[in-house]
Amino acid sequence: MQSRRHDIVGESAALGHVLDQVEVVAPTDAAVLVLGETGTGKELIAHAIHDASGRRDRPFIKVNCAAIPSGLFESELFGHERGAFTSAIAQRTGRFELADGGTLFLDEVGEIPLELQPKLLRVLQEHEFERLGGTRTMTVDVRVIAATNRDLAGMVEARCFRDDLYYRLNVFPIAIPPLRERAEDIDALVDHFVGEFARRLNRHIDEVSSETRQALRQHPWPGNVRELENVIQRAVILSRSGRLAIPPLHIESPLRPIHGEAETLDSIKRAAIARALEQASGVVGGPRGAAARLGLKRTTLQSMMKRHGFGLPLPRERTDDVSPVAG
Ligand SMILES: Nc1ncnc2c1ncn2[C@@H]1O[C@H](COP(=O)(O)OP(=O)(O)OP(=O)(O)O)[C@@H](O)[C@H]1O
Ligand SMILES: [Mg+2]
Repeated sequence: MQSRRHDIVGESAALGHVLDQVEVVAPTDAAVLVLGETGTGKELIAHAIHDASGRRDRPFIKVNCAAIPSGLFESELFGHERGAFTSAIAQRTGRFELADGGTLFLDEVGEIPLELQPKLLRVLQEHEFERLGGTRTMTVDVRVIAATNRDLAGMVEARCFRDDLYYRLNVFPIAIPPLRERAEDIDALVDHFVGEFARRLNRHIDEVSSETRQALRQHPWPGNVRELENVIQRAVILSRSGRLAIPPLHIESPLRPIHGEAETLDSIKRAAIARALEQASGVVGGPRGAAARLGLKRTTLQSMMKRHGFGLPLPRERTDDVSPVAG
C-alpha cells in the first residue's frame, strides 16, 4: 500500500488502520493528536492529514515546541507588536496568524510551557488571541495537529500539562505503532529507501539478499523508520556491487553494557542513568524526568551524565523547526 501524495509505505494492518483514521479525520476540522515513538512517522502523518483536508491549498505551518526557548514561545506562536519588549524593534507575525485558513502542526507539544497553555487553550476554543504587547483581538481559523513521543496523559497526572488543554488536543488521537510491532512493513520500506537512495546517489542496486532482509526484519529498530532509513542510506553508499550490503546492526543504546565490561560502581551508575533516561524518554528534569526517577537534583544528574559520557539530550530538529512548509 502506498498513498500517492506522501509515499507512506507499508503493508501492515496496523499502518492500514492509521491511514484509515487519517482518511476519516482529515476532512473534519477536529484537532488531532499524533502519538508514537521517535521516528515512527508522526510528521509524515500530520502532512498527510493536511493534504487530505480542504485546507490543502492553504499553509501548513510547523512549530517545533522543543526548539523554542521558553521566553520566546508566546511571540513565536502569537506574534508581538513593536516595542512589546526591549528587542521587539518591529512588529512580528506569529505562527497562528501565518497558519490562518490552514493547519498548524505543534510538534513535541509536551514541551509547551505551562504558563502559556491557557492562551493556547483559548485560541483553540475561541479562535482568538492578542499579539504580545497588543490590545487588538485577532481572530483566526486554524486547524491544529499536535504530536508527541511523550506520555502526555502521565504529564497531566504529574501536573506538568494542563488537563483542559490535553482534552482539547486529544479530540482524535492517532497512535502510530513502533516499527518492531509492524515488522511486515520492513520489506516494503527497505525497497522504497533502496530505490530512493540509489536514485539520489546514482547507484545501481538490484539485489537485496534474503539473509539481509531477514536481518533487517528481525532488528528491533529503537529509532523506528528514521533509523531504518539511515541504515539503508549508509548501506547504499557502502555497496560497491549491485547487491545491498548492510553494515552490522547493533542497538545504539548506552543501556547495553559494553561487551566484557566488568561490573564496577561506575558501570552500575552508567547503566542506572541510561535506564532512567530511557524510561523518561530522554527528559532529565521535571517530575517524571530521569533525575526525579533517580532521586537526584537535575543539576546533579547533568554533571553525572557529563562525567559518564552521556550527551545531554538536545531538542531535535533545530534546523527546520519553525519554517513554513509549502502545503
Ligand atoms: N511509513 C513510512 N513510509 C515512508 N517513510 C516513512 C514512513 N514513516 C516514516 N518515514 C520516514 O521516516 C522519517 C521519520 O519520520 P517522521 O519525521 O515523520 O517521524 P516522527 O515520528 O515525527 O519522529 P520524531 O518523533 O523523532 O520527530 C522521515 O524521513 C519519514 O519520511
Ligand atoms: Mg517529528
